[in-house]
This record gives sequence, structure tokens and C-alpha cells, in this order.
Amino acid sequence: MEQLKSKIRDIPDFPKPGILFKDITPLVRDPAALRLAVHQLFHPFLGQDITAVGGMEARGFIFGALVAWELGVGFVPLRKPGKLPYNVQSISYHLEYGSASLEAHTDSLGPGDKVLLVDDLLATGGTAKASCDLVESLGATIAACAFVIELDFLKGREKLSNYTIHSLLHY
Ligand code: PRP
Repeated sequence: MEQLKSKIRDIPDFPKPGILFKDITPLVRDPAALRLAVHQLFHPFLGQDITAVGGMEARGFIFGALVAWELGVGFVPLRKPGKLPYNVQSISYHLEYGSASLEAHTDSLGPGDKVLLVDDLLATGGTAKASCDLVESLGATIAACAFVIELDFLKGREKLSNYTIHSLLHY
């Protein structure tokens, strides 16, 4: 895991003053680190009858699509508002200041689907909790949520106490 941590770059004051941003672009640029991260993300879920991987815009698309490929299932993008062209199911959630929304196509998941959610980062947990709610609102079940990075001090895990959480790196 130190191999992965060495490929994550800290960017102070991005996107706002006081935020220390965890930049995963060096990790995804490095073939060995990318392969290791994807392997560690999907491996615990082999044989668990996952039917789809959901990924949160935007960095969840990178890891989620690769995890879906490895599990041999399809990928469902959970997108920011106004990006998906067909009928959508929306969910709004609170941020520290204001609110945000995520959308999924209404025909992307349904009863019988067992979904692995994948994102690069678990911070406050607002995005992940909304994603779980969105998937469940379509009738599907959450198998687990998998993250490359978990910021333990933000306690996002507490919002996800009903779910299995798998994080590769902790800060
Ligand atoms: C980041 C990250 C997660 C989310 C985690 O995405 O990729 O999706 O924030 O934060 P939370 O646990 O506090 O909800 P961001 O909103 O920066 O979107 P982007 O990937 O499109 O840049």
C-alpha cells in the first residue's frame, strides 16, 4: 500500500483555501500502481454475485469502469445534474455549504441488481450515502462501497454504517 500512497500527491489549498487535496492522477498514470489499486478494489468481491458497478462522477468513473471490467459486469455512471440524456432518477444531498445532486438513468438498475459502488475518495460520506440511496431508489441492492482513499478524520464511514466499506488507503 506504500507503493500506492507514494503515487498520491497532496495539493494544498485546492479547490479552496484550507483543503489539502489528494491528487490521484500520478497513481492512474503509473501502470503498476493503477493495476495494483484496481486489483485491491475488486478482489474482495469476486464470487459475490455482483451484477453491476456504479461509479460517481468524475474520478469514480476511472476506477469503477476498470473494476467492472475485472468483475465481468457492466458499469453505471452516477452523474452530476443535467449530464445524462435519458430519463433520470435524481437525489439531492447536503454539502457543508449548499446542496448537490446525482442522477442515474431510470433503466440502469433494478430489483435483482447487486451493486458495488466505487469512488476514488470517501471524505464526509455525503456523495457515497446519496449514491447508495439513489441505487436503492431504483430497486437495486448495495453489495458494498469501495474507495481508493478514506479520510478517516472526516468520519464519512459513520454515514454508511448500514453498508460494507472497503478502503485501500487511510489518512
Ligand atoms: C470528490 C470525490 C468523491 C467526493 C467525496 O468528488 O471524488 O466523489 O468528492 O466527498 P464526500 O465524501 O465529502 O461526499 P468531487 O465532488 O470533487 O467531484 P469530481 O470527482 O467530479 O471532481
